[in-house]
Amino acid sequence: MNTIVIASQKGGSSKTTLVAHFTVTTEQKNISPTVLIDMDPQSSLSSW
Ligand SMILES: Nc1ncnc2c1ncn2[C@@H]1O[C@H](COP(=O)(O)OP(=O)(O)O)[C@@H](O)[C@H]1O
Ligand SMILES: [Mg+2]
Repeated sequence: MNTIVIASQKGGSSKTTLVAHFTVTTEQKNISPTVLIDMDPQSSLSSW
């Protein structure tokens, strides 16, 4: 199992957007089952 962490203190630098698109792509292309864990109190990825 690979674990990829996208982290940066800079807000608005596309972290959430990147992982959302990355995860949809890995699922749609059957690259790998992918699990998203949203640790941001803002919860924008969970809402998405
Ligand atoms: N490649 C891109 N081109 C244009 N706008 C983008 C791109 N990636 C992200 N955005 C926009 O930038 C904003 C912040 O992105 P977000 O992924 O929420 O950043 P972060 O999670 O790092 O705070 C959002 O409004 C998003 O739609
Ligand atoms: Mg974010």
